[in-house]
Amino acid sequence: MRIVIAGPGALGCLLAALLAPRMEASGHSLLLLDHQQERARLLNDQGILYETDGNLQQQRVAVCSDPQIIGPVDILCLTVKSHDLASCLQFCRPVISPQTLLVFMQNGIGHLDVEEREALPTTPAFAVSSEGATLLAPGHVRHAGRGITHMGFCGHPGEQQQQLLGTLAELLHESGLSVSLSDDILNHLWAKLFVNVGINPLTALYNCTNGQLLTSCAARSRLKKLVKEAETVARACGVAINTDSVQATLAVCKSTARNISSMLQDRRRKRPTEIEAINGAVVREGKRVGIATPFNEEAVKQIKEMERNYSQERQDAQNTTRTSTG
Ligand code: PAF
Repeated sequence: MRIVIAGPGALGCLLAALLAPRMEASGHSLLLLDHQQERARLLNDQGILYETDGNLQQQRVAVCSDPQIIGPVDILCLTVKSHDLASCLQFCRPVISPQTLLVFMQNGIGHLDVEEREALPTTPAFAVSSEGATLLAPGHVRHAGRGITHMGFCGHPGEQQQQLLGTLAELLHESGLSVSLSDDILNHLWAKLFVNVGINPLTALYNCTNGQLLTSCAARSRLKKLVKEAETVARACGVAINTDSVQATLAVCKSTARNISSMLQDRRRKRPTEIEAINGAVVREGKRVGIATPFNEEAVKQIKEMERNYSQERQDAQNTTRTSTG
């Protein structure tokens, strides 16, 4: 069995660090694929630094930046951000055969129509994870909160695809993660969307941890409005909602209290955020089904303004460096 994880972000590094020993012990092969050659070299030298409960472990993982060298594999887990998914799939072409199981692990619901966009060889699987992972530096991941990873198909997979997903679930389980195979992955995707809709933009805007959102009345009230609005859109889209989404989101704030959300990590690194795939998706779906989404619209507007500001700052800093070295 050959598995490739594409994208050495927080989730990619977490999965690689946990899966690698189990894969090696059972004679399987695991590779982390990174399109950045320099970083791949660094990760090969230092390994993945996995931090949990104050302990730091160094885990050797094979990292490669050339998919041609790898060739077709059994399972490809795509852990890149949703806005990088199309280019990542293009880059990963050499590792995909007509039998390869693709597993999409993005936040939001923007990647759900990837099947149409990319003419994939087989029905892909989707994974929704609530593991709290923070990337502290390249290849250095902090496992800041335990969660559960749901996996399943939206379409109709072949028998081989189902077997491969079962094997992946088993390997992840044996590596210490809580995994559940689901017949209702769409519901899990929406449930996770509610959590991200409430936590991600607010932690990024207020520059605070997930837990700190609970300590401000204004933040809590805004979180509730964002999630309620997303829930109304989901119901209008025909998604069955059996749990209290606001309570579930507040519970995630608590269970991942020390976590720096992925959107705040993006803000701190001055990178594009996933706002379009998260709150942007609620606004788009709301328009489609005729539901007004003023709170999510406002969150999208503010995050985009923040992105524009820091990309301008980055541009100015680059120009200053060029001028002073030129
Ligand atoms: O995007 C994130 O950071 C995570 O999905 C979550 C669950 C909000 C925890 O920080």
